[in-house]
Amino acid sequence: MSSYGPFAYKNGELHCEGVALSAIAEAVGTPCYVYSRSELERAYKAFDAALEGIPHSVHYAVKACSTLGVLAVLAKLGAGADIVSLGELFRWQRAGGDPAKVVFSGVGKTRDEMKAAIAAGIGCFNVESAEELYTLDEVARSVGAKVKIALRVNPDVDPQTHPYISTGLKQNKFGVGMDEARTLLRDAAAKCPGLQIAGVDFHIGSQITKASPFADAIARLVDLVTALRSDGVMLTHVDIGGGLGIDYGKGETVVSPAEYGAAVRAALKPVLDLGLTLHTEPGRVIVGMAGALVTRVVYRKRNEAKHFTIVDAAMNDLMRPALYGAFHPMKPVVKPERATITTDVVGPICETGDFFARDRELPELDQGELLWIGAAGAYGSAMASNYNTRPRAPEVLVRGETHTVIRARETYEQLVAGETIPT
Ligand code: LLP
Repeated sequence: MSSYGPFAYKNGELHCEGVALSAIAEAVGTPCYVYSRSELERAYKAFDAALEGIPHSVHYAVKACSTLGVLAVLAKLGAGADIVSLGELFRWQRAGGDPAKVVFSGVGKTRDEMKAAIAAGIGCFNVESAEELYTLDEVARSVGAKVKIALRVNPDVDPQTHPYISTGLKQNKFGVGMDEARTLLRDAAAKCPGLQIAGVDFHIGSQITKASPFADAIARLVDLVTALRSDGVMLTHVDIGGGLGIDYGKGETVVSPAEYGAAVRAALKPVLDLGLTLHTEPGRVIVGMAGALVTRVVYRKRNEAKHFTIVDAAMNDLMRPALYGAFHPMKPVVKPERATITTDVVGPICETGDFFARDRELPELDQGELLWIGAAGAYGSAMASNYNTRPRAPEVLVRGETHTVIRARETYEQLVAGETIPT
């Protein structure tokens, strides 16, 4: 590999667009997250273009990367947002995002969250259960509002991804069953004056690498839309969630946005012909490839069984390998051509789960050298924590030859702000 998305070697040095990663590491220290603005824009536009011809809206899943500087780039491109908390709504609005383009997902929205989201004027609630539906109706009526809803269904389709990020199977907590959905929406249309029944929605999982699970789930949604029409419930949109996978460099083939778009277009045809529009909620495919974690080798050591490369980033900075056994590509920041060794890349946290790679064949790195961990833009910084009282890493956005710190490294004072020692 001499390039990976926006990260490419120039004169033996890995750059993000026109900026050397070593210069960024020098400026902000390590570990740090680096994002490419042009890749964010390219990925967003590619996804949007893949759905050309379908009346649609793209609601970026804020949870994938919720840093203001990243949200602002997407908001400027005209994106909407898929949120799951008031915190995400706050971030979206702070970044200049339009609340009217927000869809609110999640199985556990509280009354307070509903009230605040109605007051902010969000576009649609994606409702996940009968109890939530009737509660939202009550809350809406109590404030004299009529809110747009889509009901999330569970199409019972296997997305063929990691079990922790599969969400559209019967055993998962998400959505309601297809039969229940029909009765529930019929009932709500008749009895819930606080609700405008606008759509049905699904999100079957994440890091999906084939088009067929989407096509299968859409076919089930199409049947539901048709059945509801015969009941007199006329929907105006369908929402097919997010879930499109990216290439983590493991050698798997991943369906492209264009192939996904073609499959979606074909499967949706019956409801598009009825004039319904499409909502989407992509996260990973928009930000995943744009971001990397840059870390420095602290020590190396070898025991009878293994070689370890100990770096200054840890599972608190990027928890995907620890949590899902996820694979992330890795490269030395300088001089990639050299002899390789088989090594475990691990962080300094006191847990065996604190690893980025196990038995990975990598160019042998010296103490003090920089390592690039790629495809870390999605669910990287957004899932970071302060475990081991480690300040969250800074984040940098590159544009051409320049870079901007979009999040400063946390300070120890910030970490303890809000804590009190009892007298
Ligand atoms: N819509 C809903 C309702 C979701 O729950 C999600 C992600 C998305 C959209 C965006 O999915 P995406 O396009 O990013 O696949 N932390 C895990 C991924 C969890 C995904 C949760 N839901 C990971 O690091 O792989």
